[in-house]
Amino acid sequence: MEELRVLAISGSLRKDSYNSILLQCLKKIANVPIDIFPLQELPIFNEDLETTETLPEAVSQFRKEVLSHSGLLIATPEYNWSIASATKNAIDWLSTNKDNFITNKCMAISGASTGQFGTVRAQLHLRLILTHLGANLMNSPELYISRAQDIFDQNGDITDDKVYVRMEKFIETFIEWCTK
Ligand SMILES: Cc1cc2nc3c(=O)[nH]c(=O)nc-3n(C[C@H](O)[C@H](O)[C@H](O)COP(=O)(O)O)c2cc1C
Repeated sequence: MEELRVLAISGSLRKDSYNSILLQCLKKIANVPIDIFPLQELPIFNEDLETTETLPEAVSQFRKEVLSHSGLLIATPEYNWSIASATKNAIDWLSTNKDNFITNKCMAISGASTGQFGTVRAQLHLRLILTHLGANLMNSPELYISRAQDIFDQNGDITDDKVYVRMEKFIETFIEWCTK
């Protein structure tokens, strides 16, 4: 049997992004490989590029990776009460009129913010989008990391035992979700 692999994307392109750190932590905790696709490689969505001759190589690679992984995990920042444009851009490239790479895909949402609500509003918006696209979306447990600046240390490790346990439960349940 082929090894189960999870693909993960962080909606923040910032060098020291807490959402990217969150994915690195989940990667360390998980008992299966998690590969992270860098969203900065994707151009801004343009339907005109959606032809065999013009499709950007990065988009083609991203789609291949989504197809070859059993699950897709998103870490989303919250900007202005919603998801980041990089996250929406990635989703748009995965769900054009021609192809939908999200329908039936095993997916989970997580997110980290420096505020006290831990991306809850962004995650609600993201859930709506992914439900519309027919993703096989894990509902529970949810993973909201609030006050991220107090949760991760300088090495990107988790300083809070309770959060560690929540992250462990989250990623274990998602891996199980991907095997169903
Ligand atoms: C333009 C902008 C808008 C933001 N809006 C929100 C918001 O609506 N809710 C929230 O909790 N945090 C908000 N933040 C704070 C981000 O959650 C915080 O900067 C976070 O660290 C971004 O994620 P990252 O660390 O992965 O880059 C905002 C930050 C920026 C720069």
